[in-house]
Amino acid sequence: MAIEVFAPAKINLTLHVTGQRDDGYHLLDSLVVFADVGDTVRVTSADRLSLDIDGPEAGGLDAEPDNLVLRAARLLAPDRGAAITLTKRLPVASGIGGGSADAAAGLRALAQLWDMSLPEPEQALSLGADVPVCLSAMPRRMSGIGERLNPVPPLPAMDILLVNPRVAVSTPTIFRTLAEKNNPPMERDLPRWRDLPDFAGWLANQRNDLALPAIAQQPVITEVIDALSEAGALFAGMSGSGATCFGLFSPDHPPAEPVLRRRHPDWWCARGRVL
Ligand code: C5P
Repeated sequence: MAIEVFAPAKINLTLHVTGQRDDGYHLLDSLVVFADVGDTVRVTSADRLSLDIDGPEAGGLDAEPDNLVLRAARLLAPDRGAAITLTKRLPVASGIGGGSADAAAGLRALAQLWDMSLPEPEQALSLGADVPVCLSAMPRRMSGIGERLNPVPPLPAMDILLVNPRVAVSTPTIFRTLAEKNNPPMERDLPRWRDLPDFAGWLANQRNDLALPAIAQQPVITEVIDALSEAGALFAGMSGSGATCFGLFSPDHPPAEPVLRRRHPDWWCARGRVL
């Protein structure tokens, strides 16, 4: 039996860093969405646990024992076997979930293969702060260090253009170099957005507190955000600790990626729908 689970890209539309715990992890308040652009995890029964990685972005990753998909498998059942194939389409270390999305998809696929229940959010959190939200794969307001997940008001239909300038960013370094850790959260009750322009206007008053330290490390991020705005995005920002940026477009907006691809053939670029 083969089971295939899609691992959608995770996008932090907002990311407010509101404090730091004694163990060094940061408290967040983030509006997280997912796109129909992502990796795929396929599992089949086998005696031993194994991982193969293919796909256009496979080069950025090794099937080492500490690969998050293998760690997810061992968290679920330390001694069980499965042949796992990860098809990697999202750039590695790029702020759109990648490893966490793969771990969450791996948990789903293997729980089905092995007829087990999914781990509790606290257990999933041990794989990475973004794994619980990736398990939900739905728009969520994420807080704590990633373990508190709340529903959000309905989002308008929108397309998303993801662009990575092909620079890797180290998440721990970005958090470490963040000057101010105690920033205000989003408002207590999120508004009911009327439409995409209304939502984009609201986003323009929110923040990604990791953008400044990320831009200090990789100034090209500003260029990506400007390129997305010039391409007609109603709102453009950076996801997670970068360097992937996103632009939000009305679903009937003509495709913006051909121009971007022509101007920046070296950048990674993918258009999808917000799920
Ligand atoms: O949990 P994950 O392995 O994805 O996080 C990578 C690194 O990012 C952590 O080791 C930590 O340095 C930083 N981080 C943080 N606070 C968070 C999430 C991540 O400080 N809420």
